[in-house]
Amino acid sequence: MVCCDDRTDPILISMETGLRDRVAIVAASSKGIGRAAALALAAEGTHLALCARNSDALEQVEEEVRRTYGVSVYADTFDVADDLRVRQFVEAVHRRYGRIDICVTNAGGPPAKLFLETTMPEWDNAYQLNLRSIVSFAHAVLPYMQQRHWGRVVTITSMTVKQPVPELILSNSVRAGVLGLVRSLATQFGPDNITINNVAPGYTATDRMKELAQSKAQMAGGTAAQYETEIAQSIPLRRFAQPEEIADAIVWLASERASYITGQTVLVDGGVYRGL
Ligand SMILES: NC(=O)c1ccc[n+]([C@@H]2O[C@H](COP(=O)([O-])OP(=O)(O)OC[C@H]3O[C@@H](n4cnc5c(N)ncnc54)[C@H](OP(=O)(O)O)[C@@H]3O)[C@@H](O)[C@H]2O)c1
Repeated sequence: MVCCDDRTDPILISMETGLRDRVAIVAASSKGIGRAAALALAAEGTHLALCARNSDALEQVEEEVRRTYGVSVYADTFDVADDLRVRQFVEAVHRRYGRIDICVTNAGGPPAKLFLETTMPEWDNAYQLNLRSIVSFAHAVLPYMQQRHWGRVVTITSMTVKQPVPELILSNSVRAGVLGLVRSLATQFGPDNITINNVAPGYTATDRMKELAQSKAQMAGGTAAQYETEIAQSIPLRRFAQPEEIADAIVWLASERASYITGQTVLVDGGVYRGL
C-alpha cells in the first residue's frame, strides 16, 4: 500500500490487518473453506471458536492452530441447523473470551439435484442449513458486537447467488435469501460500526467439490474426473480455487483494511460469473 508522510516521496507500508487478539467464530470449520479461513485468521493472531458435526477432523484443526499459531481455540461439535445449539455455542464463546468480534458463518451445501427431483423435506433442510443457520448466528452475535461498537460478519455462500447452476437449484434459491439478509443487516447495524458481507466462492478444491463432481457424473454419465476437467476448462482462470484463496477474501473482509465495505457480495470465482 502507498502512503505519504511529510516528505514528498511516497513510502510503502505493510497491510496490517488489525486482527491480532480479536476473537472470531468460524462455523463449519473442520474441513475445506471453513478450515482454511480458521487457519488464515489464526495466522493473523486471532483467537478462534470453531465447530463442525464430527470431532476427529475438528480436533486436528484445533491442534494445528494451537501448535502453529499459538492462539486460543475453543471448539464444539454440533449441527449449525440446530438453532438452540448455535445459541448455546455463542454464549459459551462469549463466556470464555468476553467478546466476539468476528463471525464467519458457514455450513455444508445442499444436495445437487435437478428441480423435479427435489423433495419438500430437502427444501426445508436447505433453508435450515443455508439460510436459517445464518439467522441463528447473526441473532446471537450481533448484540455482543453492538456492545463493543465493532464487528464483522462474513457469510460464506456460493457463486450460485449470481450465476445459478441448474443442478444446484436448492443452493441457487436458498442462498439468494442470504443476500437479502446481508444487505438488510448491513443497513441496520452500520451505525454500530458492524460490517456484514458475503463471500461467494466459485469451484473450490474441497471434499464438497468431489461430492458435486460425483453427483454430476451420475446425472450426466461419464466420470467425476471428466466432469472436473470440463468445469476447469470453463473457468477463465482454468482451474479450481484452493480453499486458502477463498480464505484470503474472508480475512480481508474481517480486517481493518475493509472497514468501509458493507452489504456486499464478493465473488471469488476465477471469473466464472460473466455479468458486469
Ligand atoms: N467447494 C466448492 O466448490 C464450493 C463452491 C461454492 C460454495 N461452496 C459452499 O461453501 C461451503 C463450504 O464448502 P466446502 O467446500 O468447504 O465443504 P467441505 O470441504 O465439505 O467442508 C464442510 C465443512 O462444514 C462442516 N459441516 C457440514 N455441515 C455442517 C453442519 N450441518 N453443521 C456444522 N458443520 C457442518 C463439515 O464438518 P462435519 O461434516 O464434521 O460437520 C466440514 O468441516 C458449503 O456451503 C458449500 O456449499 C463450496
